[in-house]
Order: sequence, then structure tokens, then C-alpha cells
Amino acid sequence: MNSSYSKLIENLEYLKLSQMITHLDETIDFMNHNQLSFAETLIKLTDYEIDMKQINMVKSMVKVAAFPHLKEVKDFDFLFQPSINKEQILDFTTLRFIERKENIVFLGSSGVGKTHLATSIGIAAAKKRTSTYFIKCNDLILNLKKAKLENRLEARLKHYAKYKLLIIDEIGYLPIDAEDAKLFFQLIDLRYEAKSTILTTNANFKSWGDIFQDPKIANEILDRVLHHATVINIVGDSYRLKDHIQIENKKS
Ligand SMILES: Nc1ncnc2c1ncn2[C@@H]1O[C@H](COP(=O)(O)OP(=O)(O)OP(=O)(O)O)[C@@H](O)[C@H]1O
Ligand SMILES: [Mg+2]
Repeated sequence: MNSSYSKLIENLEYLKLSQMITHLDETIDFMNHNQLSFAETLIKLTDYEIDMKQINMVKSMVKVAAFPHLKEVKDFDFLFQPSINKEQILDFTTLRFIERKENIVFLGSSGVGKTHLATSIGIAAAKKRTSTYFIKCNDLILNLKKAKLENRLEARLKHYAKYKLLIIDEIGYLPIDAEDAKLFFQLIDLRYEAKSTILTTNANFKSWGDIFQDPKIANEILDRVLHHATVINIVGDSYRLKDHIQIENKKS
């Protein structure tokens, strides 16, 4: 028994099944105590390994997505932002919108929670092993521009087009020249009706013509983005200024 036990540990080490090693003794005890069959015992033991693999998989999906922080829906105070329908946000975390290849646009002024909510939905997707990537609009455009200069635009566009969920944060914070707007359009066109995109912006759609410095391209972008999309228009105070607002209210 002793030598076979050592051999088993050796085999498990060789196969890098560390969870099975950790839980071996307790599983043997459990088996003896409950008179489990060989198959039942093996299932119990392999389940430990599978559980850990799944936890690590989720961790790496979240890491790969490059979120700015790990804030989730549970960390969002819906009472502070009453213009947001909590049920609607919770529905997004079921990822039905990804199955339907629909988009979400978070529109609102600074600090109302656009990036927080977009990230929360992204984390929900990554946790369910949906390929997800978060990028600021400006970085996305810089990367596409660089790829174009290096004659690898096609590959870069394909790379961004492959994510089941792409979050493009901060559209309209910096002006985009007409040439760059075309690059952005190409990506939106590739993802149109094929993949879901979440966009956040502080600029209402009428001003997108100015942002992209080409009203025609801006229209073509908006047309595709909004065709199958839910727009969450957040009207409220900045959470960043929450404490200042409370102080002001107390003063008056
Ligand atoms: N209702 C809320 N409950 C809890 N935290 C919130 C809420 N709204 C915003 N926050 C927090 O406040 C900060 C600002 O929110 P966020 O970054 O989402 O704003 P934003 O709408 O993206 O603003 P900007 O347009 O400036 O990028 C973040 O730390 C976010 O987690
Ligand atoms: Mg933001």
C-alpha cells in the first residue's frame, strides 16, 4: 500500500495534477467511510482538478481582457444613479445581447459610471469564457494607425474583429481626424452584425460628425453601431463628485 501510494503521488506529480495530490488523503478517507466505488472516487478526485482549472481559466480570461479595474455590477450603487434601470444592466450580464450580436452604448457626462458598467458587463462575459477585450478609443486608433504604417492593418483589424465582445471606451474625448475615422469605421464594419461591441461616450450622437471630422463617415459608423443596439443614456451627477455634492447640499 505504502509503495503504491508513493507511486500514485509520483504519477500525479508527473501529470501535474496538484489538486488531486492535495485532496488525495481526504478523498481516500471519504471513499472508505462512504464505501464509494472506484469510479465515484475518481470522479470526486478529478473534480478538484477541474474546479481549479476553471478558476484559473476565468482568471486568465479576465487578465487577457485588460480591464482598467475589476469593478462589477455588485459594486455599483444604483440608488445613486436612478436614471439607470438595474434590471436592464443585470440582463446584459446574462450575455443574451452577445448571442444576438447586439451593441450597447453608454452615453453620459463624466463620472456617471459608463466605464464601470461597461467593465462589469465585460467581466461577466470573461467569467463565462467569452473572448473579451477592453480598449480606450484613442489607443485603438493609435494601434490601427501604427499597423497601417507597418503594412499590417488587415491583421490588426482581424485581431480586434475576432473578440466576441469588444469594449471601446471614451469615444469623443479626443478628436479623430478623417483618415483615422476610416480605420475606426473599418473595424465597426467588420464587427457589424457579427460581434457585440460596447461603446462609451460623453458626446451625443449629433456631435459625432465633429469628433470624426467627417460627417459622412460618422454617419456610417453610427448607422452600424446603432442598428442593433441599446443606448443607455445616463443622466445624473458624477460619482467622483459625490462627496463634494453632499457637502454643498449640507451647506445650503
Ligand atoms: N453608481 C455608482 N456606484 C459606485 N461607484 C460608482 C458609481 N458611478 C461611478 N462609480 C465610480 O466612480 C468612478 C467614476 O466612474 P466611471 O469611471 O465609470 O465614470 P465614467 O462615466 O466612465 O466617466 P468618464 O466619462 O470621465 O470616463 C469609478 O471609480 C466608478 O467605479
Ligand atoms: Mg470612463
